[in-house]
Amino acid sequence: MKQEGTPIAMLTAYDYPMATLVDASGIDAILVGDSLGNVVLGYDSTVPVTMEDMIHHVRAVSRGVKRAMVVADMPFLSYHISREESVRNAGRLMQEGLAQAVKLEGGSEVVDTVKAITAAGIPVMGHLGLTPQSVHQLGGFKVQGKDGEAARRLLEDAKKLEDAGVFAIVLECIPQQLAKVITESVSVPTIGIGAGIHCDGQILVTHDLLGMFSDFTPKFVKRYANLKEQILQACRDYQQEVRSKAFPGPEHVFNMAEEELKKIY
Ligand code: KIV
Repeated sequence: MKQEGTPIAMLTAYDYPMATLVDASGIDAILVGDSLGNVVLGYDSTVPVTMEDMIHHVRAVSRGVKRAMVVADMPFLSYHISREESVRNAGRLMQEGLAQAVKLEGGSEVVDTVKAITAAGIPVMGHLGLTPQSVHQLGGFKVQGKDGEAARRLLEDAKKLEDAGVFAIVLECIPQQLAKVITESVSVPTIGIGAGIHCDGQILVTHDLLGMFSDFTPKFVKRYANLKEQILQACRDYQQEVRSKAFPGPEHVFNMAEEELKKIY
């Protein structure tokens, strides 16, 4: 698709019903992101997300997807302790979660890990720029690569990830000019989130796009629906109809024959 100049559209999903809808929409690839921690599990970062959390949700997504590629995020510390552990954890996301690829964050420091995982036959997606698992080291959710030196390092990291064998690289929250240079400098597709139009594809967190999550809305999010309001209203309507006994109505109940009812007295 990069070679043809066809932009790649990716979204996240974390459970079966959303995965079936995202898949049916024609999205090219679905990321079971560790943003799970923020938008589904109620944490304030992705750091608390575990391998068991990821496997549970990747399995649910995989069951709902018929055509899109499923990529699973490797959570915090699942690829940092040793190469053996990293390969095993990546393998679990494929074998138990039924993902078709894994994603991990970082540049030169993860190159050997990427090589080890790809050597096991597992496709790896890279992730550079704002890498949320390092939010405490980065000092918050901030745009990365704004000065020349930091931008040069990110460009080098992208080339190193490509050499290590990644099949694509997510670029998160970097200036669009830098994203353009990186995109033109690597042969693998770049997938942007807060990185502008020059990337080979885009990804958004589905809960952001649908307006289901409003704890924090980054500048790069475009909201395509306001489901939060619709869900709230539906729940309010239900609550009121239960109170007023408008629900359940005659169309929602089951009846039994009068003579059968008499037998219970
Ligand atoms: O976890 C996630 O959803 C991600 C995307 C924001 C790229 O990594």
